[in-house]
Amino acid sequence: MIVESPKQAAWDANLYLKFADARLRPALDLMGRIDPANGARPGHAIYDLGCGAGNITRILSERFTQSAVVGIDSSEEMLAKARTQTADPRVTFTKGDLAHFKPDAPPGILYSNAAYHWLAGHIDMFPGLLKLLPSGGQLAIQMPRNHEAPSHALMREAAQAGPWKTKLDQVRGIGPVSEPARYYDVLKPLCSDLEIWESIYQQPLTGKDPVAQYTAGTGLRPYMAVLDETEGKAFYETYARLLAEAYPTRADGITLFPFRRLFIVARRA
Ligand SMILES: C[S@@+](CC[C@H](N)C(=O)[O-])C[C@H]1O[C@@H](n2cnc3c(N)ncnc32)[C@H](O)[C@@H]1O
Repeated sequence: MIVESPKQAAWDANLYLKFADARLRPALDLMGRIDPANGARPGHAIYDLGCGAGNITRILSERFTQSAVVGIDSSEEMLAKARTQTADPRVTFTKGDLAHFKPDAPPGILYSNAAYHWLAGHIDMFPGLLKLLPSGGQLAIQMPRNHEAPSHALMREAAQAGPWKTKLDQVRGIGPVSEPARYYDVLKPLCSDLEIWESIYQQPLTGKDPVAQYTAGTGLRPYMAVLDETEGKAFYETYARLLAEAYPTRADGITLFPFRRLFIVARRA
């Protein structure tokens, strides 16, 4: 099942985990809609697709104690961190590209938190994922849908606002996640149940440049990856300055970072 991954800007597991609390809540909200019966199907593994640093994979294994749990990710940096999360032999981590995911045997649950938005054309992959499941099996996916929010719009604006413009013109950032109804139309013919919802989390952040620090662990990476150190610093400072106006610090020192996320829980007919 090991497939070569496309070249990506490197992930920094520790920077990503800096906001682990804020990122954990949607992962648990998604997990909360999984039918426990699916977590206990003998011989049907649970896959955590785009498992990242493996902290959520570990929680999946603690919640669903009857199944093997397999984390798949294309980043060696993330997988190295993931392998430190648990010594439970039921949990394994494998390098693989989600664009070519093909399990060895039908899984019981395909779970993916904050990963598929990194794949161009991900919506066309979802029916194929659902077809991998036995009848009753569940596909559970969460993706950020914050593309139009200042956090992402100002990334694009800062990219145009300095001598780095030509280099950053070539960067393909996170592709936008579509309207919920598009996912409904694509998945519904294959489902016995389909639940789609959105939540906007009012994430309370602290520290200097909190929103820039948050996106530095994810969406900002492809931009920073093509700049040298001096350019990267100037670009980051321009972006952080724009963000400070859009996300003011409250009287108690907290910066609220509203973040919209799309959830899909589909049960195979
Ligand atoms: C934002 S992190 C989310 C990690 C984890 N699911 C979590 O919720 O903490 C996105 C992860 O998706 C992985 N990823 C992105 N594109 C991928 C691909 N084509 N194949 C496999 N993994 C991919 C990245 O390496 C990264 O670890």
